[in-house]
Amino acid sequence: MPVVPGDEGAGVPPACAANGVDAVVTTPDWDALRAAALEATAHAYAPYSGLHVGAAALVDDGRVVTGCNVENASYGLGLCAECGLVSALHDSGGGRLVAFACRAGDGSVLMPCGRCRQLLWEHGGAELLVDTASGVRPMTEVLPDAFGPQDLPT
Ligand code: THU
Repeated sequence: MPVVPGDEGAGVPPACAANGVDAVVTTPDWDALRAAALEATAHAYAPYSGLHVGAAALVDDGRVVTGCNVENASYGLGLCAECGLVSALHDSGGGRLVAFACRAGDGSVLMPCGRCRQLLWEHGGAELLVDTASGVRPMTEVLPDAFGPQDLPT
């Protein structure tokens, strides 16, 4: 769906009507993405760890998807915020993740756990940009030499 200039959102995606094609430019608005991640922490269910996690990502069509962690009395069954985010990605139309931010409830930056780096690789690949404590970095630095779909037999 085309996105008109002036629309709210973390993608700042102006419609490109010059050639009659609904191209969407997805330049990340990192402040908006970080704010969306922090807002998502308010929905976390984390009675066991006490760590409320929120994740937000810009999708290649300009929309923003979010997720929060959901724990379980059977500790190992807890869901990271990234799991919810990936589910929201597919539930809202699919696409590729282009920019990602994760926050704790106190606003501090959180890096995705190892498992979730693999999740992000699946849905964003090498070009996905990740907000880290040391700046915005590509997934090739966050998950070097990644295993991925290309490693499976065809
Ligand atoms: N957690 C996430 O939601 N994402 C991560 O990438 C790291 C860990 C959650 C899982 C658990 O609910 C809490 O943080 C403590 O590990």
